[in-house]
Amino acid sequence: MPICFRAKVYKQSCGTVYMKILVTGANGLLGSHIINQAAQDRKAEAVGTTRTGAGGFAKMDLGSAKEIRHAVSSFSPDVVINTAALTNVDYCEDHREEAWSINVEGTRALASECREIGAKLVHVSTDYVFDGNGGMYKETDETSPVQYYGKTKLEAEKAIVGSGIEYLIVRPAIIYGWGNGKLNYVTWVIDSLLKGQKIQIFDQYNSPTYAGSLAEALLKITDKTGLYHLAGPQRISRHEFAMKVAEAFGLDSSLIVQARDNSFAKAARPHDSSLDVSKAAEELGMRLHDIGQGLMAMQKGRL
Ligand SMILES: NC(=O)c1ccc[n+]([C@@H]2O[C@H](COP(=O)([O-])OP(=O)(O)OC[C@H]3O[C@@H](n4cnc5c(N)ncnc54)[C@H](OP(=O)(O)O)[C@@H]3O)[C@@H](O)[C@H]2O)c1
Repeated sequence: MPICFRAKVYKQSCGTVYMKILVTGANGLLGSHIINQAAQDRKAEAVGTTRTGAGGFAKMDLGSAKEIRHAVSSFSPDVVINTAALTNVDYCEDHREEAWSINVEGTRALASECREIGAKLVHVSTDYVFDGNGGMYKETDETSPVQYYGKTKLEAEKAIVGSGIEYLIVRPAIIYGWGNGKLNYVTWVIDSLLKGQKIQIFDQYNSPTYAGSLAEALLKITDKTGLYHLAGPQRISRHEFAMKVAEAFGLDSSLIVQARDNSFAKAARPHDSSLDVSKAAEELGMRLHDIGQGLMAMQKGRL
């Protein structure tokens, strides 16, 4: 019989590494890729949680300390990968209490339950912790979010660091890929162009991150600790990225229009929150898909 050990001790038996991973936000874009990838790797037993219990996953609302305690203590994972968050930037701007409760207090409660059972917390943060006045940010650069979503994500990082548990925090940026039916940047561009709709894109620079590549990387580095920028290797404007999506999928790029400002959005966006990913490459050996590879993986229809 395989034996499961708590935190840090991964027992090799019959060629299989037994590690129990709890993945929050299992029906989200990144969460669904992690669950899918873990099933393919078969190196860990991964169990997902969702806010409503939808999709046959365990129910765990980050707004409920009781549900967090119940999910963590009953599965008793070695590692919790927290992808769940209120991710709609404009919604967070208008619903600050809710955003704080889910993104900050929910993460704090999760860290506290991890401490109770000696589990490691792998937390997914964001490039929006930066103000975007610089670009190519390193992990040591000063954070200064320009909207409420970024503020909650930064406070969540601080709550984890202050909790005294063993943690790994990663910061990706515009995560894209096929996923949960909810549109992400790339599927929004594809969907709009397929419908013949004109799209206005404000020139914002980021480091697009392919969800499949990030999921694969996260499952490989659950034993690492600290803070890493874990994103695609390219700095690109959203407009240029949309043009590449149109080209890759043979869609009408004349529908893509550069907007003069982003006054149509409720929350401010950082102008250039591109990330320097050299620390993850050098220390972890992690190089995520570039845009060409990410879009090619999508063309192949790989989740
Ligand atoms: N998407 C990006 O461009 C991007 C960029 C940088 C960083 N990130 C970060 O990366 C992580 C994953 O992002 P993603 O793109 O996979 O986001 P996503 O598709 O929006 O998934 C987020 C998940 O969180 C869940 N969630 C929301 N409120 C919850 C609650 N109260 N309790 C439990 N679960 C709740 C959602 O479930 P429901 O759908 O049921 O509400 C959803 O499954 C997030 O932490 C995000 O902040 C994302």
